[in-house]
Amino acid sequence: MSFLQNKVVVITGASSGIGAATALAFAQEGCAVVLAARRVEKLESLKQQIVGLGVPCLVVQTDVTQLKDVKKLFSTAEKQFGHVDILVNNAGIGRNAFLLDTSLQDWKDTMDTNLSGVFYCTQEAARAMVAKKISGHIITVSSVLGLVGISGRSAYCASKHGVTGFKRSLRGELKKHGIIVSLVHPAGVDTDIVTDLAVDRKKWKMLQSEDLAEYIVALASQNVLRIIGVRLLNIWRRVFYAVKYYPK
Ligand SMILES: NC(=O)c1ccc[n+]([C@@H]2O[C@H](COP(=O)([O-])OP(=O)(O)OC[C@H]3O[C@@H](n4cnc5c(N)ncnc54)[C@H](OP(=O)(O)O)[C@@H]3O)[C@@H](O)[C@H]2O)c1
Repeated sequence: MSFLQNKVVVITGASSGIGAATALAFAQEGCAVVLAARRVEKLESLKQQIVGLGVPCLVVQTDVTQLKDVKKLFSTAEKQFGHVDILVNNAGIGRNAFLLDTSLQDWKDTMDTNLSGVFYCTQEAARAMVAKKISGHIITVSSVLGLVGISGRSAYCASKHGVTGFKRSLRGELKKHGIIVSLVHPAGVDTDIVTDLAVDRKKWKMLQSEDLAEYIVALASQNVLRIIGVRLLNIWRRVFYAVKYYPK
């Protein structure tokens, strides 16, 4: 039996892009998956695919900016499966605006989703894991923009830098409870958020959601060789896509 088989995984932002691909990839490993996002019809259609793989799947409509929704997400998951082994904090939004044009609403929405949403989910997951003495794993999708700054994306960059600092601080804190904290810093993945950030979706410059999902599952497997293997594979894929999709 593989390490991941029968693990219970909660994935936020599972209705599209990286989150949906990650949910499918965990299901293919034999995990029970809990799908969370606001667009419930998209989650239900993904659930059909996952159930077709013969693994249990639960849909919980969740707005990660709402603490009550997040509490319901984890209580429903625990009620159904008894506990949670892995959380993938993936939900996020992108807004593209220079400082002088950034509205207070854009700033608040970005912080509420990308930073407070990660805090709510992480705290609920950690509390549930500690209470049940689960050696869990919390994986958070930050961004390369959680490491560097870029003009016209200050709100997004601030939220993702916040996520990076928050998670790095938790590594030592949660280690004593046997909980692993991992961060992923993607750059250029072909999903809707790229359009939301008003950037052209240039396929030749981007990874696919499935490529990122493979990496997230490798991290969750805690198999160092597998993690290095997927990292190398994704470097090779960047070259492959650049050659294959470069406009002729
Ligand atoms: N694509 C890239 O190049 C890239 C690069 C770096 C980092 N990332 C990060 O990757 C993560 C996934 O994004 P993606 O690229 O896969 O884009 P995406 O296809 O737009 O997915 C974003 C997901 O977040 C969910 N979401 C947004 N607001 C939410 C809320 N308030 N509550 C619950 N779910 C919410 C959306 O679902 P609903 O609308 O149904 O709620 C959707 O499932 C994000 O954190 C993003 O910052 C992406």
